[in-house]
Amino acid sequence: MEKPWEGRFSEKTDEFVERFTQSVSFDRRLALEDIRQSIAHVKTLQKAGVLTQDEAKAIVEGLNKIAEEIEKGGFEFKESLEDVHMNIEFALAERIGQVGKKLHTGRSRNDQVATDERLHIKGQILEILELLKGLRKALVKLAQNTVDVIVPSYTHLQKAQPIRLAHYFLAYREMFLCDEERFMLAYKMADRSPLGSGAVAGVDFPLDRFFTAHELGFNRVLRNSIQATADRDYILDVLYACASTGMHLSRLAEDLILWSSEEFGFVELPDRLCTGSSIMPQKKNPDVLELIRGKTGRLYGNLMSLLTTLKGLPMAYNRDLQEDKEPLFDSLDTIKACIKAMTLVLDGLTIKADRMQQQAGGFSLMTDLANYLVQKGLPFREAHSVAGKITSYLLKEGKKPEELTLEELKSFSSLYEEDALKLLDPRVSADRRNTYGGTSKEQVQKQVEIAIREEGL
Ligand code: ARG
Repeated sequence: MEKPWEGRFSEKTDEFVERFTQSVSFDRRLALEDIRQSIAHVKTLQKAGVLTQDEAKAIVEGLNKIAEEIEKGGFEFKESLEDVHMNIEFALAERIGQVGKKLHTGRSRNDQVATDERLHIKGQILEILELLKGLRKALVKLAQNTVDVIVPSYTHLQKAQPIRLAHYFLAYREMFLCDEERFMLAYKMADRSPLGSGAVAGVDFPLDRFFTAHELGFNRVLRNSIQATADRDYILDVLYACASTGMHLSRLAEDLILWSSEEFGFVELPDRLCTGSSIMPQKKNPDVLELIRGKTGRLYGNLMSLLTTLKGLPMAYNRDLQEDKEPLFDSLDTIKACIKAMTLVLDGLTIKADRMQQQAGGFSLMTDLANYLVQKGLPFREAHSVAGKITSYLLKEGKKPEELTLEELKSFSSLYEEDALKLLDPRVSADRRNTYGGTSKEQVQKQVEIAIREEGL
């Protein structure tokens, strides 16, 4: 197969080098975006008087046919033609003859590849936003049904204070909403057109870059041809959004893995989402959640990999930049799969409310016993110390806080009265936390209503 640069060269490309430098095995994923941008480029060339109407028409028709072949899976990509761009360009000349060779006028693969990637990212982010919405809906549905389920909260994985389970689910919804904003920022960054920047310096044909950008649905035109061809920050932004979303999914996965253990017993996963053991008959393993947690590693790796590729690159385009694609594609595929998997898990989750509520009280009520004294005028530090002494007394006696009598309380502080005993109820404790964003029924109910409205449920 001839190379476009054969005029300059006196020997054939080494076969190993051909394989080493090719990207078509993975960048073929950009084929339809490549054709879309070629069509916009052809229109721009025609507008600039570089192509006649007939020439432009022939090229566009040829490109559309190739798009059809690709969609049907009948197009043969050749490694010897290096990348998706040259594969399509050469196929065009094969199909429509000489005029096809005019397509690459006033364009370089450097502005071409950045354009394809930006178009691809925009489409992918729209898909991811839809998936994220589905995930948040699953969380809100769980929240709707669990406003009255009281669970322990944990800090340092030690029981902290009783909370409403709905409050917990809404916490994750908030995190995924922030991820939505991260993806929207990445979308905005990708939504700028590099086409017409050429290899680095701009193009010596009077191309109307604003027209091209408009044809391709870009919101803005990149203002500097050097930046337009050398920068891959728009990919970093996507990779970061994927990494952050993966991290949140992984934390949620970790909680659910713990909660589904016999020791916690807070939730049960449906059989259809679990796997068994080849040796231990009793096992039902949360592999889906473990894989969500595990795959977060590659999302981080992909971000780190591109950051490292970019570090120290001299301006402007360098072939190193070809290494941007595999991390990008991998992160996009991984995050889509993980969001889908988590949505399935949440939709199939059984909540064991009794077990949660059994665990919700106990020592997580000690803050309330301290604050009771504060309300009676004792400085918080002293109240904290009194409640601390009660805790060690209970531990020594092997008693639960719920078993405390008024006499026992009074032996630690004369400020305790009959109504202090009412505090020894996790539900009461939760409802006392009535600040905005807190876990009281009033606050959580409000937040659930807002979430239902925002998610259009
Ligand atoms: N496959 C290349 C990439 O992904 C396309 C651009 C190649 N440009 C070049 N001048 N070699 O970066």
